[in-house]
Amino acid sequence: MTGTITVAIDGPAAAGKGTISKAVAAYFGFAHLDTGLLYRAVGAKVLDGVAPLEAAQALEAADLDRDDLRTPDVAQAASRVAVLPEVRAALLDFQHAFARRAGGAVLDGRDIGTVICPEAEVKLFVTASPEIRAERRFLELEANGHDVMREEVLADVVGRDDRDMNRVDAPLKPAVDAVVLDTSDLSIDAAVAAAVARVQVVLDQRG
Ligand code: DC
Repeated sequence: MTGTITVAIDGPAAAGKGTISKAVAAYFGFAHLDTGLLYRAVGAKVLDGVAPLEAAQALEAADLDRDDLRTPDVAQAASRVAVLPEVRAALLDFQHAFARRAGGAVLDGRDIGTVICPEAEVKLFVTASPEIRAERRFLELEANGHDVMREEVLADVVGRDDRDMNRVDAPLKPAVDAVVLDTSDLSIDAAVAAAVARVQVVLDQRG
């Protein structure tokens, strides 16, 4: 595959975007960018005392390898810096370039189909109920050795949803032409199969 195709996968925290995006990218041989990691890396630097814009402008590949990026504190910090238009603007060029690279790209985040790549050939909005998302995130954090309580994780998910959906710049919402995939009652395999099928339809239409 040599042409460009952008697959935009948006949705709230812990809906399954990451798992689905990785699987779709692996299936078709596309590159994958978890854009949440960019905001997490900026958030982590802000927790270290760096100013948000400075952190976003100076972001380097190594910053995405920090091992604290998946912690609840960094998730909240990411959601807070993501409200700032100047931080979002500083991360734009990198995401655009990634989206149009040869060979196809999958980007997952909150605003890929609406703001970063409104021209994406495939747009999915992956969602699930807050309770189910919180339970998944709780099990994931617990498995990774984090000492957390269920209620805290649910409050964290609901708080981030609220901030991500109600910010002025690039709020979380489905693009008008996105296909909504509710994973509340789907196994991982079924959710991945639905996403792969959607991409395949678009590839077949292009011939
Ligand atoms: O997908 P995630 O949980 O790793 O994202 C962390 C935070 O980053 C999320 O709460 C909001 C922000 N984010 C964003 O505003 N836009 C994106 N495209 C991706 C993430």
